[in-house]
Amino acid sequence: MLDPAGGPAHEPWHRWRDVPGPRGAVAAAVLAASPHNTQPWDFVVTDDGIDVYSDPARDTGSVDPFGRERDVGLGCALENLVIACGPRGLRPTLALLPDGGDGLRVAHVGLAPGVPGTDPLYDVIDRRHTNRGPYRPTPVPPAVLGALAGPDETAGSLHWIDEPGRRAALGQLLVDAAEALCADEQQSVDNFAWFRATNDDEQRHRDGLVLDGQGLSPLELGVAKLLPPSSRTEGDRFWIDRTRDVHTATAAAYGVITTADPEDRRAHLEAGRLLQRIHLRATAAGLALHHMNQITERIDREASTGAPATFAPRFAALLPTGARPLLTFRVGRPVRDGRPTPRRSVAMVSR
Ligand SMILES: Cc1cc2nc3c(=O)[nH]c(=O)nc-3n(C[C@H](O)[C@H](O)[C@H](O)COP(=O)(O)O)c2cc1C
Repeated sequence: MLDPAGGPAHEPWHRWRDVPGPRGAVAAAVLAASPHNTQPWDFVVTDDGIDVYSDPARDTGSVDPFGRERDVGLGCALENLVIACGPRGLRPTLALLPDGGDGLRVAHVGLAPGVPGTDPLYDVIDRRHTNRGPYRPTPVPPAVLGALAGPDETAGSLHWIDEPGRRAALGQLLVDAAEALCADEQQSVDNFAWFRATNDDEQRHRDGLVLDGQGLSPLELGVAKLLPPSSRTEGDRFWIDRTRDVHTATAAAYGVITTADPEDRRAHLEAGRLLQRIHLRATAAGLALHHMNQITERIDREASTGAPATFAPRFAALLPTGARPLLTFRVGRPVRDGRPTPRRSVAMVSR
């Protein structure tokens, strides 16, 4: 129970490099980030291609009422999958939404034989973890931040917020959004549904949010694992406190990925691919990254319930005119490494 990387739920992290051919690319895909670790994917694998499907049952309800985060998570998996083809001697050709914008099939990846190559992002696929712990009070130079997007940033969709005044304003907005989300009973319940409080739950479900992923010190983690599981209210309080005292208090910079059209699924899939690449590059550069999407979750919740828009104008004031926020994350130099979280195996998610 105290082993951070034990049991079948963690085997996908140890086995993925040994899985040959197209299934090996799927083994890399399942290690990607996804909202609440829902792993909302299904794969159909043949010798000359992989179809990637969305699993709409694996959703977070009122936390993601328009399914934007789910599509971003599918984009993250797709990026790992494509990156993993080259080292396996496969040349991928990607077609997004081959059945149109409403289809469950989000991508077809055609596979042709290629010459096995190397890729520094492939090498860190199993070291990338969401790091919710404290970061060091060292600034990250703008040139280092700029290099995280790499050559692939499209149409100016990535914005860095590292100047102290704007960083503090975004930090306050993140705390306010966490409080508002917890005060909204439906969002709090839907959030809590993905918490796996015990090792038995974690091994049975092989998904969701776990204590190992909370960025605690070894001592705090050991104590937390011995205590009885937290109630929903206690979990909400813990998250708000950590958002104020650790997450926003130690963020060196925030990245925000924006979109011109928040209804465009293709843009969400591409944003997920970009997000995963940024996270892999950050990992390779020794930087930590923590996804923090409570503001856009509140924006979508207000829009879906017809409530007055309180978070959209506050976030817009921190962004270029007309840019619509889709994803937010913090980066910095970590005090401690992130830890692996559970995953379903290739056999469980593919046919
Ligand atoms: C679209 C998306 C939204 C996410 N939103 C949050 C968030 O608001 N807060 C958070 O702590 N983690 C967030 N995450 C991180 C996931 O919880 C994390 O990827 C998942 O638990 C698996 O853990 P790993 O990234 O360490 O492999 C998000 C991830 C994605 C892809």
